[in-house]
Amino acid sequence: MTDTAHVRLRTPTVADGQALWQMAVDSATLDVNAPYAYLLWCRDFASTSVVAEFDGPPHKLGGFVTGYRRPDQPQTLMVWQVAVNAAHRGAGLAGRMLDHLATAQVAQGVTHLETSITPDNDASRRLFGAFARRWDASLKCSELFGADLFAESHLAEELFRIGPLRVHQRHQ
Ligand SMILES: CC(C)(COP(=O)(O)OP(=O)(O)OC[C@H]1O[C@@H](n2cnc3c(N)ncnc32)[C@H](O)[C@@H]1OP(=O)(O)O)[C@@H](O)C(=O)NCCC(=O)NCCS
Repeated sequence: MTDTAHVRLRTPTVADGQALWQMAVDSATLDVNAPYAYLLWCRDFASTSVVAEFDGPPHKLGGFVTGYRRPDQPQTLMVWQVAVNAAHRGAGLAGRMLDHLATAQVAQGVTHLETSITPDNDASRRLFGAFARRWDASLKCSELFGADLFAESHLAEELFRIGPLRVHQRHQ
């Protein structure tokens, strides 16, 4: 199993943009956006995103979380995509990235985390379920975008809303 002790969690830069895009492609699960979208994300939403970098050289990325604070509800951090390279899964890396990001954002006024998950994504459902338990926060599930809203065949996206989040509540 991956030794996540040698992982540095940090804010992405535009130089990471294409590695994020490649991880999204390789995930075979995520909706892959244009390479340009990941560059823009790394420029404009870097402070609400995180990458996991393994000690090098070479300094290789093992995963990322992208998120943003909702413009009309800035106390809510919306997690857009989470990916961990297949070789590093199951070692708690995604959970660590989420904790890292949430800790920084809660210190800046975030009280809730949201994400959307399709009903078939067990790993992601467990990831956010475990996050809610570690933070002693409640998790509410509701429909975000029904399948009928997508132009192509796509499962419904369910909204997971977790909170309130308080740093001192977090379990290890
Ligand atoms: C979802 C994903 C990011 C999880 O990354 P990870 O580093 O392996 O996750 P963690 O090790 O932190 O595990 C988190 C939880 O998910 C569970 N889990 C991990 N892989 C799993 C799998 N394949 N099936 C079911 N549960 C799984 C873990 O057991 C853990 O739950 P627990 O604490 O209740 O035991 C990773 O599987 C991935 O990149 N998948 C493809 C992209 C994707 O689906 N992203 C999420 C949608 S935005």
